[in-house]
Amino acid sequence: MFLNILLYYIGVCSAGYATPEQIHLSWTENPNEMRITWVTYLPLSTNLYYRSLLCKDSIDWSEKPASYTIFDAGNIFIRYEFIHTVTIQISSDCIYEYYAGSYYGWSPTYKFRGLSPGTKIFDSIDMLLVADWGGGTVGQLTKNLILKQISLDQVDGILHAGDLAYDLPDLEGMVGDSWLNMIQPIAARIPYMVSPGNHEYINNCSHFKNRFKMPINEANQGTGYFFSFDLGRAHFIMINTEIIVDDKMASEIYTEVNWLKKDLKKANENRDERPWIIVLTHRNLYCSVDWTLPYKEKNSNCGVDSIILRRYLEDLLYQEGVDLFFQAHVHQYERNSPIYKNKTVKSDYDDKYMHVNPKATIYITNGNAGNIEHHNNPISKTPQKWSIFAAEAYGYGKLHVFNKTHIYYQQYSSGREIAIDHLWIIKDKLRF
Ligand SMILES: *[C@@H]1O[C@H](CO)[C@@H](O)[C@H](O)[C@H]1NC(C)=O
Ligand SMILES: *[C@@H]1O[C@H](CO)[C@@H](O)[C@H](O)[C@H]1NC(C)=O
Ligand SMILES: *[C@@H]1O[C@H](CO)[C@@H](O)[C@H](O)[C@H]1NC(C)=O
Ligand SMILES: [Fe+2]
Repeated sequence: MFLNILLYYIGVCSAGYATPEQIHLSWTENPNEMRITWVTYLPLSTNLYYRSLLCKDSIDWSEKPASYTIFDAGNIFIRYEFIHTVTIQISSDCIYEYYAGSYYGWSPTYKFRGLSPGTKIFDSIDMLLVADWGGGTVGQLTKNLILKQISLDQVDGILHAGDLAYDLPDLEGMVGDSWLNMIQPIAARIPYMVSPGNHEYINNCSHFKNRFKMPINEANQGTGYFFSFDLGRAHFIMINTEIIVDDKMASEIYTEVNWLKKDLKKANENRDERPWIIVLTHRNLYCSVDWTLPYKEKNSNCGVDSIILRRYLEDLLYQEGVDLFFQAHVHQYERNSPIYKNKTVKSDYDDKYMHVNPKATIYITNGNAGNIEHHNNPISKTPQKWSIFAAEAYGYGKLHVFNKTHIYYQQYSSGREIAIDHLWIIKDKLRF
């Protein structure tokens, strides 16, 4: 009794410290699973309460205890966060409704669709692609548009290719907390998958690793830094380009590149079911901005980095027939043609908004969801022939994999709330 009163008192006094926050969903390495993660600032036992709806064999409200890890988010000070996770079995036919917490504080109730990778084959999936996303005014614009989009439009997953929050560890981790709270209304409803960028490495990736649990595989040893999954008619791969460009991590390069080789080989064996292979990374292989020139950055990321990355990755992507390669880090949008060895490769038919049967990987830079660093000038002082369209608008991409033959990509401007670019990719062969 005394303990209860004491705990109640603590709960009331520290309103907010016991209430789940930073709620987000993610897919795991197993089909038919969803992981739900949230944070409290007190070491409480919390539960997930959930039910399934709109399907045969719906389950009524059930309770599943979460387990938590203790994470010191501080830098100068110790600042404990209790990161709770629970994984539940889901079925693609159902909608799930859930809330989390304990007597001392409850989350809002959210719903998500029971879709997960690696299950049955179906057509038509829609993914939002974001990168280089922080809080602040311009980051909020992207949040607002994505919130609107997920309530009106089909969105099955969100893939964030590095540079989160600017930066997760800043202000004793409070910048990370506040960004995760900003995205909560989105990430608590749509699975949110992440891979690291250079900003995650500022703190040795400890915030990234603790706050996000991505699919594990034999090569990433539980870090979740690189992984792949099958959804709809596509095989998605998120890789970590920091390993490749940072000399300090040289020993890890081949762990990742060899895994990628094996993963692409396997994806090619499965190509009659999932003919599209889509890779997302943080750094660029092809962009026409020379970062020694624009007004802000003084390094030469699209020069030196891209030369290193091409050496490790380009032949592999080409030989294994990767259809689309999304890159970020440069804060702008740039859509390139199919490219091999720095040259445009002609498709059976090309126009500004369409490639029919492309014969090389298409490279798109989408690194401008909005953050404190602002954007790069999209007007290149070293223009490249393979660059089709560039814009500085803050925003994100939407990738619709219709079926085995059609992909439609749109780039949105978060400020103007319109699509500023689009592309059809059509193919009648399984691969080039
Ligand atoms: C960074 O992480 C690696 C692997 O988790 C660890 O071996 C290394 O000691 C860490 N370095 C620092 C500076 O914390
Ligand atoms: C790529 O080709 C362009 C000409 O289109 C040239 O200016 C540039 O230096 C080449 N880059 C590399 C890395 O070969
Ligand atoms: C694939 O999707 C496109 C775009 O909606 C459509 O035009 C085409 O007929 C579809 N193909 C098949 C086989 O369903
Ligand atoms: Fe970056």
